[in-house]
Amino acid sequence: MNSALTAPPDRHPTRLRRSVLTVPAVNQRALGKIAELDCDAVIFDLEDSVAPEKKAEARQNLKTFLSQADLSWRERIVRVNGVDSPYFHEDMALVIALSPDAVLLPKVEVPGSVHTAADLLSEADAMESLRIWAMIETPLGVLNGAAIASCGRTSNSRLDALVVGLNDLRKATAIPAEPGRTYLVPYLMQVVLAARAYGLDVVDSVFNDFQDFGGFETECAQGRSMGFDGKMLIHPSQIAAANMRFGPTGSEVLHAHTVVRAFADPAHAHLNVINIEGQMIERLHAAEAERVLGKAASIEARRDTKP
Ligand code: COA
Ligand code: MG
Repeated sequence: MNSALTAPPDRHPTRLRRSVLTVPAVNQRALGKIAELDCDAVIFDLEDSVAPEKKAEARQNLKTFLSQADLSWRERIVRVNGVDSPYFHEDMALVIALSPDAVLLPKVEVPGSVHTAADLLSEADAMESLRIWAMIETPLGVLNGAAIASCGRTSNSRLDALVVGLNDLRKATAIPAEPGRTYLVPYLMQVVLAARAYGLDVVDSVFNDFQDFGGFETECAQGRSMGFDGKMLIHPSQIAAANMRFGPTGSEVLHAHTVVRAFADPAHAHLNVINIEGQMIERLHAAEAERVLGKAASIEARRDTKP
């Protein structure tokens, strides 16, 4: 049924960003693993995981790697150094040359940073498909989250997604890393709300202890419940759990089929509210059901090309 794949306004219906793996561009061994990993997206990091004296080497690695690698469905995102850093312009020149799917700006605190990057891309005639993602990882970034996200509605800003960075935010706020993230949740929810207000995707922060699988799954489940689209990951061992936790469950897919079918029934053509198995279902639920089916279809379409 074609209507199952129709895009609701503003948000990609089928774009998967469940597992967003970051890899230091300076680490050739890790780069060499990417093509065999089942993550939805890869962030090639030129920023904090690369020491100042290694920045040029990291850029060169990335240039060699991305000009040869076939990453198939995986979204390719390059995290550059900050707009105000001495590395920014060289990083952006590389982004323009490599034309990945997106550039990720770290520590964004004001909309002007997004505009600075967008202007550079436009001046270089970079393709519109080269998008911008913004990391929200400082107190000012959280406070200005709505203003930053509003770039998503500004023509030419290219802003597509927000990513939360809790390592920096914890450092700046003195909130310790604790299970449940109790005192960080208000900040996280502000970022989710800002993203949704302007039709952006939003990705949860990394979980540092890559050997604590139980803790990681619990945090993925929490992130999903908070409305995140996926999680930024630091290690390949986190991919499977993130894909599972942020993907639609079997029962969600079944329910989505039921809702879409019910509203496609000519008998319900003029109804905005119907009864499905004792639950009130509104026409607005059909849009969300189509989104779930779109994601399920994207996951299914991949099965043939999986590593
Ligand atoms: N992407 C791709 N491959 C990775 C990887 C990553 N992020 N992290 C580890 N691997 C590979 C390793 O190269 C290793 O491969 P090998 O068996 O062929 O040697 C394998 O996975 C197992 O790795 P492991 O030995 O468990 O960990 P490590 O000591 O090599 O690396 C980290 C641990 C944390 C240093 C590494 O995972 C990492 O750099 N993560 C990303 C950090 C980052 O980008 N930070 C900035 C944003 S928060
Ligand atoms: Mg950071």
